Order: sequence, then structure tokens, then C-alpha cells
Amino acid sequence: MITVCGQFGAARENLWQSAQTNITWQTECGACHMAFPPGMLAVDDWLDLLTRMDKHFGTDATLEPKAKEEIADYFKQYGARSPVFGSRDEVPRITTGDRFIGKHRGALRLWQKGQIKSLADCAACHKEAAAKE
Ligand code: HEC
Ligand code: HEC
Repeated sequence: MITVCGQFGAARENLWQSAQTNITWQTECGACHMAFPPGMLAVDDWLDLLTRMDKHFGTDATLEPKAKEEIADYFKQYGARSPVFGSRDEVPRITTGDRFIGKHRGALRLWQKGQIKSLADCAACHKEAAAKE
């Protein structure tokens, strides 16, 4: 077990809470992992991800056209505007953006050593994420 996780609760909470939630997003994008808060990734990256949900990190997470449209609108409205929330990857991830890396040097070291299964499991370290699942 990673005992250092106890200290991680101090991260600011506002990023976890979007100004407004959306039930379609919450249901569709919260089915397999937590519904990652829209403010944690740039709008363009969210829209890019939505165009390839049939091959989503090794899973098929295809959406009905109507749901996809609604979620796209939600991301357009509440996705991050600042380039630091942009991903450099061919397939965008939150966990490879500059902002995430800058805030997670310690976590990344544990991950590289194999002590954390997935950096995308936000709730493993952030109690705000667990509360929203
Ligand atoms: C069928 C299951 C499933 C559904 C539904 C799903 N995902 Fe995922 N998603 C995954 C898996 C598996 C991963 C890879 C997790 C990992 O790397 O540990 C992932 C990873 C991600 C990541 C990258 C996390 C990181 O490492 O930064 C993002 C962003 C993401 N999903 C967004 C979404 C969005 C947006 C939706 C809804 C439109 C969605 N997902 C719906 C299975 C799913
Ligand atoms: C292995 C533990 C770990 C994992 C997994 C993890 N984080 Fe963190 N996170 C931290 C630590 C440690 C900090 C720094 C805490 C601080 O500055 O108070 C942090 C800081 C942050 C911050 C900065 C808070 C602020 O003040 O702006 C955000 C945002 C954040 N994490 C989001 C995420 C998201 C989203 C995920 C999942 C995609 C995630 N984290 C996964 C450990 C983790």
C-alpha cells in the first residue's frame, strides 16, 4: 500500500467542481472511471477524444450521436481554455498535460517505480474525486 496518499487531500477543490454538471456526461463518462472534471483538459482535446470513442484506451466507448453532441457542447462550455491544460499526446490524456505533470512530480515517480497502478485513478489520492463517484 502507498501510505503517502493520506497527505494528498490538500489539493484545491475548485477544479474538481465544475460550475455546472451534466447528467449525460456524468452517466456516459463516469461509467468506467470517474467523470473527469471538464476543467482539467483543454476544449480541443476533449473534442478530439470524442471523435474516437470507438477506440478509447483499449475499450469501445462509442456514444449515441445525440449523447455525443450534448457532451461536446458541455465540454465546449466548461472545458479548460488555458494551453497548460493541453495534452501533447496523439490521444489526449489529462495525465500527460503540463499542468498535471507540474503538480504530480512525486506521484509520477511512484508510478514510474510501479507503485501506483494508474495515474488516472484520481480517487486513489484525491478525496474530492472519490466523493464525486
Ligand atoms: C467503456 C469504458 C469507458 C467509458 C464509457 C469511458 N472511458 Fe475514458 N477511459 C477508459 C479507460 C480504460 C481508460 C484508460 C485508463 C488508464 O489509463 O488507467 C480511459 C481513460 C480516459 C482518459 C485519460 C485519463 C488520463 O490518463 O489522463 C480520459 C480523458 C477519458 N478516459 C475521458 C473519457 C470521456 C470524456 C468519456 C465519455 C465521453 C469516457 N472517458 C468514457 C474507459 C472508458
Ligand atoms: C498518486 C497520487 C495521485 C494521483 C493518482 C493523482 N493525483 Fe493529483 N495530486 C497529487 C498530489 C500529491 C498533488 C499535490 C497536492 C498539493 O499541491 O496540495 C496533486 C495535485 C493535483 C491538482 C492541483 C490542485 C491545485 O491546487 O490546483 C490537481 C488539479 C490534480 N492533482 C488533479 C488530479 C487528477 C485529475 C487526477 C486523475 C486524472 C489526479 N490528480 C491523480 C496526487 C495524485
